[in-house]
Amino acid sequence: MSLSADLREEILRLKDEKRAIILSHNYQRDEVQDLADFVGDSLELSRTASTIECDVIVFCGVNFMAESASILSPEKTVLLPELDANCPMADMIQVSSARKVWKTFPGYEVQPAFVFPHEFTLRDMKARYPGVPVVAYVNTTADVKAESDICCTSANVVKVVESLPGDKVICVPDRNLSLWAQKNTTKQVIAWDGFCHVHDRVTKEDVARARGEHPRALLMAHPECRPEVLERADHVTSTSGMLRFAAASEAKEFIVGTEVGLMHRLKKENPDKVFYSLRKDMICPNMKKTTLNSVLRALKEMKNVIKVPEDVRIPAKRALDRMLGIK
Ligand code: 13P
Ligand code: SF4
Repeated sequence: MSLSADLREEILRLKDEKRAIILSHNYQRDEVQDLADFVGDSLELSRTASTIECDVIVFCGVNFMAESASILSPEKTVLLPELDANCPMADMIQVSSARKVWKTFPGYEVQPAFVFPHEFTLRDMKARYPGVPVVAYVNTTADVKAESDICCTSANVVKVVESLPGDKVICVPDRNLSLWAQKNTTKQVIAWDGFCHVHDRVTKEDVARARGEHPRALLMAHPECRPEVLERADHVTSTSGMLRFAAASEAKEFIVGTEVGLMHRLKKENPDKVFYSLRKDMICPNMKKTTLNSVLRALKEMKNVIKVPEDVRIPAKRALDRMLGIK
């Protein structure tokens, strides 16, 4: 038996023994996705984490995802196989004491925006717009969720914004997602200046090049991309939204404007269709940290338990539950 077959077998044995479930985001390594009980976008994974019957959830994703699972199901043990798998965008907003410098990423060019200081905090923003409801993208830390009225994901941001009273909403931390929501609602969306380094690097020139190379392909783009990219796309949606769109479409070729990990399911579920990455370097290094070895280690040693203190968990759960209540 090959090494990875051995690893898989050992993980599956431990999974049974510990009544564990493995959840994987659509951006995880191919072999991690293939091992998981459920693979999905952030909204689907939150829904699954809140309803699934098990004792242990092994969350193959980044830390805000495991945190959300633990907030929703505190009675379960939630494991994050790689403790430093974080989402840099989630670190771009703080509740009350702003950090001055973003973290940088090994192997990636540091964009100037990564180092601009954010001295402003979420509480400052709330004080500037008193009474305006706050929508926190799920790509935030638990304490930011706890300070917000409701959460959203890329799949439901417009519905969430529309569900709130009044004519203004504050939307944090992704400026591109906020601008996308603004285009699709009559409410005024007050945005934070955060971004995802994987999606924000794509430009209209990349779109022109990809369209030139693949003239028959439809372009799907994630709402974390810049407005100049979204306005040139055929369809703007979450990662699982792209899977549904590609499966239902008559088209045979697609340019994929999101992290390259989604290519695995797109190709597997649509063997008669062809998929091209909008940019080959749309790689989230944090999503790629989790390996079969780290899943095995976490399960064997019950290591890297994610737990949120109750004074943060309860208000954060309120914001997540309010989102999950929107159909
Ligand atoms: P989805 O919710 O669309 O899967 O996106 C999550 C994410 O982190 C995008 O970068
Ligand atoms: Fe965060 Fe972007 Fe990675 Fe998604 S792709 S986890 S938003 S850094």
